[in-house]
Amino acid sequence: MSSLQYYVSGLIFVSTLLGVGGFNGYYHYISNQCRFTPNHLSNVELIYSYWFNKAEYIQFNSTVGKFVGYTEFGVHNAEAWNKDKGLLANWQAQRDRYCKPNVQIDMDDILTKKVEPKVRLTMGKPSTGGHPAMLVCSAYHFYPKMIRVTWHRDGQEVTGNVISSEELADGDWYYQTHSHLEFTPKSGEKISCVVEHISLSEPREFVWDPSMPEPERNKIAIGAAALVLGLIVTAAGFIYYKTKSRGRILVPSG
Ligand SMILES: *[C@@H]1O[C@H](CO)[C@@H](O)[C@H](O)[C@H]1NC(C)=O
Repeated sequence: MSSLQYYVSGLIFVSTLLGVGGFNGYYHYISNQCRFTPNHLSNVELIYSYWFNKAEYIQFNSTVGKFVGYTEFGVHNAEAWNKDKGLLANWQAQRDRYCKPNVQIDMDDILTKKVEPKVRLTMGKPSTGGHPAMLVCSAYHFYPKMIRVTWHRDGQEVTGNVISSEELADGDWYYQTHSHLEFTPKSGEKISCVVEHISLSEPREFVWDPSMPEPERNKIAIGAAALVLGLIVTAAGFIYYKTKSRGRILVPSG
């Protein structure tokens, strides 16, 4: 079987659950699979099976067009069910009715889905007292999982002092990953994080701007914004006071 074959739409009905306490019970269930290869969607194969615990005892295979039994009980049932041409025709029709549209949805929405990573390059730890600095390159909200994050120093790939996390599943189909570079800053050098992902037509480079560490920049930006706001309020108050006091002089009461 080709490694590119997907088994999707395994709709499972737990039809009977015997025994108390859940985990010590017996499971009787039915599975419905649509097996397909991406380039041959119309050749999708429906496999409808009955299971007891981990053993599949009877299966309808749409390529064969009838039921096949794997245990004495399964063989007995297969013989009986295969006599019912209406039942066989119904399961054969499920392939077109159920599998074909679902496989198309799986293809369009999942297997060909590509979402670009959102990348942030931040200073994890500034260089202090001879200790090296640390940069963090984080890629968020990408799909599929496979990604490559590398560090470059003056155009050369850096391999040492790099720690990368695995691709972490966000739990909503998206992934994130974080790569840390420990380095001793040198003036005039160019450090960048390069991200390669199937959603990007070419590797994307994010260059570190060493002019000022981000927290410092943020503090200054917040301070400047507060100062401007303060000036506006002061000016508004001053103008208000001026117009009020002038009004009192120009329009004497009585
Ligand atoms: C279904 O039957 C076809 C034809 O015999 C076979 O090639 C295929 O592997 C079967 N599928 C499964 C899942 O057993």
